[in-house]
Amino acid sequence: MTGEPRGVAILGSTGSIGTTALRVLQRHSDRFRVRALTAFRNAALLREQAELFKPTFVGVVCNGVDPQSEWACGADCLVTAAQRGDVDIVINAVVGAAGLDATLAAVHAGKRVALANKETLVMAGSLVSEACRRGGGEIVPVDSEHSAILQCIGGRNPGDVRRLIITASGGPFRAWPGERVARATVADALQHPTWRMGRKITIDSATLANKALEVIEAHFLFGLSYDQIEVVVHPQSVVHSFVEFVDGSVLAQVGVPSMELPVLYALTHPERLTDTGVPPFDPVEVSPLTFERVRTADFPALKLGLAAGRLGGAAPAVFNAANEQAVALFLEGRIAFGDVPRGIASALDALGDTPGDTRDALVAADVAARAHVREMFQC
Ligand SMILES: NC(=O)c1ccc[n+]([C@@H]2O[C@H](COP(=O)([O-])OP(=O)(O)OC[C@H]3O[C@@H](n4cnc5c(N)ncnc54)[C@H](OP(=O)(O)O)[C@@H]3O)[C@@H](O)[C@H]2O)c1
Repeated sequence: MTGEPRGVAILGSTGSIGTTALRVLQRHSDRFRVRALTAFRNAALLREQAELFKPTFVGVVCNGVDPQSEWACGADCLVTAAQRGDVDIVINAVVGAAGLDATLAAVHAGKRVALANKETLVMAGSLVSEACRRGGGEIVPVDSEHSAILQCIGGRNPGDVRRLIITASGGPFRAWPGERVARATVADALQHPTWRMGRKITIDSATLANKALEVIEAHFLFGLSYDQIEVVVHPQSVVHSFVEFVDGSVLAQVGVPSMELPVLYALTHPERLTDTGVPPFDPVEVSPLTFERVRTADFPALKLGLAAGRLGGAAPAVFNAANEQAVALFLEGRIAFGDVPRGIASALDALGDTPGDTRDALVAADVAARAHVREMFQC
């Protein structure tokens, strides 16, 4: 990769992935320029980032904050940042369905989207693929599992892939008895054993809803059927996923748990940079590596998400929105941990067969699913 530095927008720059991305971009400032930053409401951190990286565009979503006069305000700032002429790559590090329109706008404008915001593909995978075809943009995954799969497939014929095996840490309740899991507190659920992440994805990792989101994401990214995508628990989070080829050969990508490398790879794919700051890999230090079957009965969110993926239409959007709403209520202390999958199941029962072939239909399904969950728990 040579020539002019590439312009990068980070949507959600104040979050866990956003701040990781800024560290990576700072290390490779000869190749990338930060052109646009957005946040939801953390104006103090956004101001610090803007002073350090001097982007040409800064946007903040929430009206309740005190923005600098030159900042753009309101939810539209994500789409504006994603479409800018001085931006080549959009890192979508927003959490939740709020990232959808910016992803669509970016690929429509022919940009590369380094996608951490998996909810985008879960909600509207077919629309995003169509927008890529029309606009010439592309999605490159940031999720470590999907980055691993992309690296293992490495330009080979997709027809040569028989199966993907996505690894899951198992979350903080991997070894807890089922009836105890349903009563877990917010503090218990926020103790992820291997990754430090934002609150929503940390809860999704505890319920295993995150793995359902990732299976649906993989279905759209790699064009494989749900029968070809499996999940295995791997508590050490060192093997980031496996790809099995038609001849039975299996490749895996491994590394200590850190999001810096997947973020960088999403920027440079298919090229690799030197001076990444990644320490040499020591297999002895990370051993032993172990694998277990998923305890699906104790983590019903996984099965619900896979069923929603297979159902298609608006069902994945309903699954995602019901999960987002239920997780928000759990984090506010208004419902129990076990209520999260209950809320999702009820929303899917009520709304799972809603059609979802347009952006507006998907957004309507999203709104209805959130309302359903709030009503169910009278919140
Ligand atoms: N963290 C990880 O290691 C990891 C790994 C793989 C994938 N992901 C995925 O990456 C995405 C971000 O995760 P995260 O852990 O970085 O989350 P996070 O720490 O909660 O950060 C979320 C970012 O999005 C902004 N934001 C929140 N709500 C928004 C809205 N409605 N509209 C616009 N911006 C909004 C936040 O701004 P404020 O700070 O101003 O609130 C913040 O900058 C998620 O989709 C997650 O599943 C994360």
